[in-house]
Amino acid sequence: MTISRKVEQWVKEWAELCQPEAIHYCDGSEAENQRLLNLMVKSGMAVKLNDEKRPGSYYFQSDPSDVARVENRTYICSEKQIDSGPTNNWMAPAEMKKILTEMYRGCMKGRTMFVIPFSMGPLGSKIAHIGIQITDSPYVVVNMRIMTRMGEAVLKVLGDDDFVPCIHSVGVPLAVGQEDAKWPCAPIEKKYISHFPDTNETWSFGSGYGGNALLGKKCFALRIASNMARREGWLAEHMLIMGITNPQGVKRYIAAAFPSACGKTNLAMLIPTIPGWKVETVGDDIAWMKFGEDGRLYAINPEAGFFGVAPFTSMETNPNAMLSCKANSIFTNTGLTPDGDIWWEGIGSEIPEGTITWTNEVYNKDNGKPAAHPNARFTAPALQCPVIDKDWENPKGVPISAFLFGGRRPGTVPLVYEAFDWNHGVFMGSIVGSEVTAAAIGLKAGVRRDPFAMLPFCGYHMGDYFGHWVNIGENAPDPDKLPKIFNVNWFRKGPDGKFLWPGYGDNIRVLKWIFDRVEGMAAATETAIGFVPVKGSIDTDGLHGVAEKMDEILKVDKSEWLEECELISDHQKIFGERLPKEMKAQFEALKERISK
Ligand code: GTP
Ligand code: SPV
Ligand code: MN
Repeated sequence: MTISRKVEQWVKEWAELCQPEAIHYCDGSEAENQRLLNLMVKSGMAVKLNDEKRPGSYYFQSDPSDVARVENRTYICSEKQIDSGPTNNWMAPAEMKKILTEMYRGCMKGRTMFVIPFSMGPLGSKIAHIGIQITDSPYVVVNMRIMTRMGEAVLKVLGDDDFVPCIHSVGVPLAVGQEDAKWPCAPIEKKYISHFPDTNETWSFGSGYGGNALLGKKCFALRIASNMARREGWLAEHMLIMGITNPQGVKRYIAAAFPSACGKTNLAMLIPTIPGWKVETVGDDIAWMKFGEDGRLYAINPEAGFFGVAPFTSMETNPNAMLSCKANSIFTNTGLTPDGDIWWEGIGSEIPEGTITWTNEVYNKDNGKPAAHPNARFTAPALQCPVIDKDWENPKGVPISAFLFGGRRPGTVPLVYEAFDWNHGVFMGSIVGSEVTAAAIGLKAGVRRDPFAMLPFCGYHMGDYFGHWVNIGENAPDPDKLPKIFNVNWFRKGPDGKFLWPGYGDNIRVLKWIFDRVEGMAAATETAIGFVPVKGSIDTDGLHGVAEKMDEILKVDKSEWLEECELISDHQKIFGERLPKEMKAQFEALKERISK
């Protein structure tokens, strides 16, 4: 392997601090992958699934304390506190590094330090970036191999260039002869997911789960990359990317930002329920976007796999996700069936007798404990998705025609509405709210504001982030080629507490309206909050009992929106001086339209 002096020196320094028993540079090969998986099976950390049911796949149970992102232990350590903003935890970089250096000292004793060179984005793409993660978790290595382009080829492309350094340890050194835990991790107060935006570094300690540990994903591709993007005039967003083809064969790409566990993976690979329409997947979680020479905004998916929410994924709701994780996949915190397959709530079949739960007990329907943790996840190669887009690895990216924002809103927010213009769309993104989900630990139930679905992922002051979006519009090479902006809400509930809209595959009906709006075709009514579909312009053919609910589904209720304005007012206040004047003006204009 060709390892640059820069990389070698950096690894040496970290090895001196962490004191691992061995250092292993990951080449990304199948042989290496298999060796690590075998080791984990042997140590009891992993279970190999039945090759006839789930070829090449493995099952893991995390520690019950380490099941999701930990937002209260996540820090943005900018030089100045004000630059991290009111929505992030902050500590001075020097202070954080001092604390963490002491925690990293000797933290890998008795373990192997893995060095993972990875590319976020197709190798060699101008939009892509290279990082190197150091970790003492073999689970992280096998996940990073699915989620990123990883291994020797990356070091070749990197040459002597700089890379984004990512440090990770589960934080449990092993004394000589000490038996390892099944899922080693540190207690919550010792977990740190820290970011140094001024130097593009991520230091993570104490957790082995998801976004806390697979540092290419949220830490690099969102928190660090959002800083890079702001400095360099591009966008790093918590967005799926999908292609939509209409019955006439016209294809458009859209990108959509919904908070964690609010439907990105599902939308990205939906199977349309109306004839003639086709959906193809470019990405399900993150989009990096830059203007192309033709003045349009082009997006790449920096990832190479899906780290998807397992519960309630089924052949009914998301067959393409089910098929993506049919083989060569990793399952964490699902149930394990006696015949060596996985099971979760909402998978669409009865739970087999004797299924083991994620807490390693025999499932008992009477004790109320689910088989799968609500944030149980599958890690699956994107290439295995039956509807992966032919351009998903195109280094130029795909041109984006529309942005969608949305969240889980039981009331107030209609199924879909369109912004009047770019800045109004930015305002719509800035006020996204959603009921919280299981994707993070320790959040209060209820609706919280999650601007652009980036609340946990924006690596700088959120007010400045709104300003960056305003600037993107202002500096666009051709304003007419900017994506149109929409807000959607699949989660409005009726008085019976049930979802009014069928969702999933039927969301194509909303995408159709959006597609036609982009093409200048579908009809809309101007309301106080934006353009809403005119009655009958959302195709409900073949849907049972939905047409008569459309008024309720699309309703823009004055009193609900007056209440919403109170909440928006509180929300805007937290950004103080750094709330762009354009956002203040948008809010004033909204209030005026509603009160009219
Ligand atoms: P992250 O990976 O955490 O970023 O989540 P995500 O945004 O990709 O969410 P995902 O698609 O995994 O959906 C999360 C949950 O929302 C699942 O339990 C889905 O079944 C449910 N869901 C997704 N789409 C819809 C929909 O259109 N209607 C309803 N009612 N539920 C949905
Ligand atoms: C999310 O929480 O938005 C995820 C899962 O996509 S994690 O990678 O754990 O952040
Ligand atoms: Mn996500």
